[in-house]
Amino acid sequence: MSRLGLLMGCCLLGIAEPKTFSSYFDDQIQSNHLQDLHGHGLIEDASLKVPELVRKYGYPVEVYEVTTRDDYILTMHRIPHGKDRHNTAGAQRPVVFMMHGILSSSADWVVMGPGKGLAYILAEEGFDVWLGNARGNRYSRSHRSLDPDEAGFWEFSWDEIGNIDVPTMIDHALAQTGKQQLHYIGHSQGTTSFFVMLSLQPQYNYKIISMNALAPVAYMTHSGPILLRAAAPFSNILNRLFTLIGINEVLPNSRMLREAGEQLCRDGATTQDLCDLAMFIVGWNSEQFNKTMVPVQLGHIPAGASARQLAHYGQNMRSKQFSRFHHSYLKNILIYGTIEAPLYDLSNIRAPVHLHYAAADIFTHIDDVNKLQFHIGGSAQIIRVPLESFNHFDFLWGIDAKTLVYDKVIDIMKSYDQIHEA
Ligand SMILES: *[C@@H]1O[C@H](CO)[C@@H](O)[C@H](O)[C@H]1NC(C)=O
Repeated sequence: MSRLGLLMGCCLLGIAEPKTFSSYFDDQIQSNHLQDLHGHGLIEDASLKVPELVRKYGYPVEVYEVTTRDDYILTMHRIPHGKDRHNTAGAQRPVVFMMHGILSSSADWVVMGPGKGLAYILAEEGFDVWLGNARGNRYSRSHRSLDPDEAGFWEFSWDEIGNIDVPTMIDHALAQTGKQQLHYIGHSQGTTSFFVMLSLQPQYNYKIISMNALAPVAYMTHSGPILLRAAAPFSNILNRLFTLIGINEVLPNSRMLREAGEQLCRDGATTQDLCDLAMFIVGWNSEQFNKTMVPVQLGHIPAGASARQLAHYGQNMRSKQFSRFHHSYLKNILIYGTIEAPLYDLSNIRAPVHLHYAAADIFTHIDDVNKLQFHIGGSAQIIRVPLESFNHFDFLWGIDAKTLVYDKVIDIMKSYDQIHEA
């Protein structure tokens, strides 16, 4: 969500004259920084899609298309084994499924590169890594009969992502690997969709070995950036207004933003401070943040989402509940059989859950994490990241994410699964 703010910030800085601003800022960029980035071949990473990006760094990658029961065509990316360790093709490995946050994609897990991106780290540790893509993002912008230009394509929130997309992708990973169970790792909305899945379909508990929830989002009683919280009481009105004026999709992946990011946020640009300011406003001002990587990240986020995904979070902020999407009262009756949208029954969650939260993460206030833990039916362990300034996006991009979070996640996963050195 806060990426929305960030990108609006960057947009505001950059939209006026897309042609002239770039030549203007070119002059301001110190050429040594440019060469630095080009020298590392990093700038190119902004425009590569996930499979090319993974291949570029010498890792095996596979691409799968799966069709949901409501005809969305989703793309999954897989890194079946490591490059330096655990690199025998075809060997038996525990499967891990990873689910990205709102406005993001499978790129979240690889954009920082080998040794830093969690997908690469897990492949080296001996896991068979499957990356999901929710309906509506740049890799899953396809449907058997609906076109993304049609409003009907965008009539979903993270309720459908959790209830339909995630189980479909999990079943596909299990079928392809011949396994009964897998590990799940989610970030932000990727955790919301997990909680939705198990609340509505408890039979999926048996398919989950462990869940590591990075920045878990369910209750938003105290969580969320101020701007979004301020808009929350109006989320139904805003959603209807958006629909009325034909805004069904928010922030699709765009070349213009990528180029704006490259120009405005790269090292040496005098405007990098403005990028910092935009990030500060949305809480992306961590000392853990490596500014050099902004241009690369802006090539991959935003990756597109439905306006309804935002509206659904807004509804939950307002109601202080974790409930299904509120349509109109009439439509609620038709869909749910009740006037109000029903609450998600978190007591159905029995798979072991590990909730990793950070003190400076404005999306996961400790009171909300505690409330989530209280309502989860099985065992849910709360783990506080041992760095006070760690925030929402540091889980993906933090300079020390590996030592502060990932090593712990791997220890937890290996406590369920024996992996032999290879
Ligand atoms: C920031 O990212 C660049 C490019 O990947 C890298 O060379 C540099 O070491 C990173 N800085 C830190 C502090 O990790």
